[in-house]
Amino acid sequence: MTDHTFTHPERAAVYRAIAERRDMRHFCGGTVAPELLARLLEAAHHAPSVGLMQPWRFLRITDPALRAQIQVQVEEERVRTAEALGERSDDFMKLKVEGISDCAEVLVAALMDDRDKHIFGRRTLPEMDMASLSCAIQNLWLAARAEGLGMGWVSLFDPQALADLLQMPAGSKPLAILCLGPVKEFYPAPMLVIEGWAQPRALQELVYENTWGVIE
Ligand SMILES: Cc1cc2nc3c(=O)[nH]c(=O)nc-3n(C[C@H](O)[C@H](O)[C@H](O)COP(=O)(O)O)c2cc1C
Repeated sequence: MTDHTFTHPERAAVYRAIAERRDMRHFCGGTVAPELLARLLEAAHHAPSVGLMQPWRFLRITDPALRAQIQVQVEEERVRTAEALGERSDDFMKLKVEGISDCAEVLVAALMDDRDKHIFGRRTLPEMDMASLSCAIQNLWLAARAEGLGMGWVSLFDPQALADLLQMPAGSKPLAILCLGPVKEFYPAPMLVIEGWAQPRALQELVYENTWGVIE
């Protein structure tokens, strides 16, 4: 404990949001109140970013026709992914990998254009722009969970095709289609675990001391 430590209930709330955040693909329609959506985007905007680059751009999709076209693009990529998976293709096609048609809000999270002039922290690691946008998305995800809303990150799409559809400038890049909104219930564990697709690894297998692979 230090003078700066949050109170016990505050800490518990932070850890609860982290533990109970789930990638959601089942939504029950409804709406997200404008002031709540603004709060969530503000939480995203509080994220750290390399050199304070703030490379995030959020496109709120309100046109139903555009939402439908986005879903078509995801479906095309889902089929291509299944083909690429070979023997696991049938199992993959049984998974629900997005909730675009039944979520209250669809947001596309994108990297801004003209990123090359941002060199601070990116000279050797240009992908720090993507890391920064990911921090913003995680903030949004956690804040949404605390507000009782589910969110799903969909990355099954061709970035250029989505950029063209949304008339994004050259050099920008969509990284996530975010499905957001009320859910009937949160999955008690990652859906891919519940469905038997993947097994999580224990933290202690992934923490090394001094040199790679050495577990204390
Ligand atoms: C960068 C990123 C991309 C993802 N893309 C997809 C996706 O396209 N479709 C999907 O169903 N889940 C996607 N997910 C969700 C992961 O499958 C999920 O986070 C993981 O299985 C752990 O589950 P949890 O988030 O509920 O803890 C993505 C997650 C991340 C971080």
